Amino acid sequence: MMFSINDLKLSLPDMTQKPLFGPAPQIDILKGISFDIPKGCVLGIVGGSGSGKSTLARAMMRLLEPTSGSILFDGMDITHTSEEELRGMRQRFQMIFQDPMSSLNPRRKVGGIIAGPMRLHGMDRTKERVNEALDLVGLPQSFSQRYPHELSGGQRQRVGIARAIALRPEFILADEIVSGLDVSSQAQVLNLLAKLVKELGLTLAFISHDLSVIRRLCDRVIVLHQGLIVEEAESQILFESPQASYTKELLAAIPLPDPDQIWDA
Ligand SMILES: Nc1ncnc2c1ncn2[C@@H]1O[C@H](COP(=O)(O)OP(=O)(O)O)[C@@H](O)[C@H]1O
Ligand SMILES: [Mg+2]
Repeated sequence: MMFSINDLKLSLPDMTQKPLFGPAPQIDILKGISFDIPKGCVLGIVGGSGSGKSTLARAMMRLLEPTSGSILFDGMDITHTSEEELRGMRQRFQMIFQDPMSSLNPRRKVGGIIAGPMRLHGMDRTKERVNEALDLVGLPQSFSQRYPHELSGGQRQRVGIARAIALRPEFILADEIVSGLDVSSQAQVLNLLAKLVKELGLTLAFISHDLSVIRRLCDRVIVLHQGLIVEEAESQILFESPQASYTKELLAAIPLPDPDQIWDA
């Protein structure tokens, strides 16, 4: 297994309810979550806003420490591993964030942005690897000289993907990475991810509030609601016969396809 998550719970202090004196009350954000991600799988994690998707992502990447339960990465228990011990391992699991404009340093050129984490992990041939990564995500090598604000939203998201895959990770977690894009850029980024999964043999967890993007990409889906998994199924089965009422609500919320696309089909 790439990841095994067992009865994962995570509580955080609720600063909005903090009394003037004394500690803030804890709120339970993840309430006992268990699932596996086999190697080579593309897992969709879907749920409405506030269901706990990003918190789960940050726990899996160990940017947050769980309150209880366990997280195994490739058989290793990383639930409470120290940052120092994680350092040697971090290159193997990478996260791509929702908003590329805020996750890419506006004052660095694309080449430096992609090379940054490679240098941190002591990789050599960074310039060559930057060019390889740009090739893989379908951007011209000349883009290494550009600044993030000179790129479109879809191009910026490709830079975010290039930065992650340049480290040659085994696992990538993508959190809402197409949510800010128009439909045609969304489709291009999804196709790119599907291609990279195949070509690089990646395992991918793809988080979205939008079931229609999950459908194109994912083998399996888990549905998150209020910090719990309410349904888990193979993608096709989930779309054909959803079981949980919450899944049915999410499916009903998918907008109808563009009429032009229907006529073109
Ligand atoms: N640092 C935090 N402190 C307190 N509550 C938080 C914190 N981060 C997230 N939450 C709360 O946890 C819940 C889940 O948030 P999140 O994981 O970001 O959900 P999602 O990504 O599915 O929208 C939300 O109700 C949110 O308000
Ligand atoms: Mg989120």
